[in-house]
Amino acid sequence: MTILVAGATGTVGSEIVRQLAEAGEKVRALTRNPAAARVPDGVEVAFGDLTVPETLAPALDGVTAMHLITFGGDADLQTGPEIVELAGRAGVRRISVLGSFYEGGVEAALRAGDIGWTHLRPVGFMANALAWAPSVREQGVVEVFGNLPGAVVHEADIAAVGVRALLEDGHAGAAYTITGPAAITPEEQVRILGAGIGRELRFVQLTGEQLRVQMEAAGADEEYIEFALLLGVAPPAEGGTVLPTVQEVTGRPARTFAQWVDGHADAFRP
Ligand SMILES: NC(=O)c1ccc[n+]([C@@H]2O[C@H](COP(=O)([O-])OP(=O)(O)OC[C@H]3O[C@@H](n4cnc5c(N)ncnc54)[C@H](OP(=O)(O)O)[C@@H]3O)[C@@H](O)[C@H]2O)c1
Repeated sequence: MTILVAGATGTVGSEIVRQLAEAGEKVRALTRNPAAARVPDGVEVAFGDLTVPETLAPALDGVTAMHLITFGGDADLQTGPEIVELAGRAGVRRISVLGSFYEGGVEAALRAGDIGWTHLRPVGFMANALAWAPSVREQGVVEVFGNLPGAVVHEADIAAVGVRALLEDGHAGAAYTITGPAAITPEEQVRILGAGIGRELRFVQLTGEQLRVQMEAAGADEEYIEFALLLGVAPPAEGGTVLPTVQEVTGRPARTFAQWVDGHADAFRP
């Protein structure tokens, strides 16, 4: 049985690939750019673009389980029905989907189909802190808009839940909200990050106007700026609520932010 992983070069998908390969599973990594894909030894790489479903047929050959993402490039996938149909025809019996609290076309297509699927709904990623890496490396500073606690989650734990859903019976129909072990503010994250890399960091709280100016300078569109402004002051309640999902599904406690820093410290060092 081959497991096809979409998003395999991304934050969560690369962890799913790694964990499946470590477990001795036959894994195929889907990417639009096979030449650039870095995968563990023994993992196949297959070309495919989820926005162009006809490119997926060769990658789906012999696949019985599949990890899916809900976006293609920057936009929500509009090709859910075609992807689900192709997967069904290829013999896929289990699908895990990395989504969020807002359901889109991929989830709707899965609901309408008959393949057993599991919805992975992580809260904010610990890995979002990588956006701080340049200013930490260069000035020892982190600038953030909003300072509300979030139950941020390690990508390896999102992947671990997905891996269970791909390998075991009993997860079809489940929607797993996946969180870290504690709700911590960005300021606390910065303190933990500083302790982990052995450097005192300065936490600066931006005003909404300062965030807008920075995002406009970076070329963000108005919709994205409004979304970031809203997230800073009124994030979804789920984002700050710790749940036992990782422990219950994987049998292991959720990784802490200090553990995440330990695994990513090099990105923050000059
Ligand atoms: N960041 C958060 O805090 C957060 C919280 C909750 C949910 N989420 C959800 O997590 C998802 C992002 O996951 P991530 O951070 O792991 O992704 P990521 O690191 O941004 O990686 C994107 C991946 O998607 C693949 N991809 C993009 N367009 C594709 C297409 N048209 N066809 C095939 N592959 C395509 C890319 O592969 P190639 O470039 O190699 O083709 C790459 O592997 C989003 O759905 C987001 O809503 C994020």
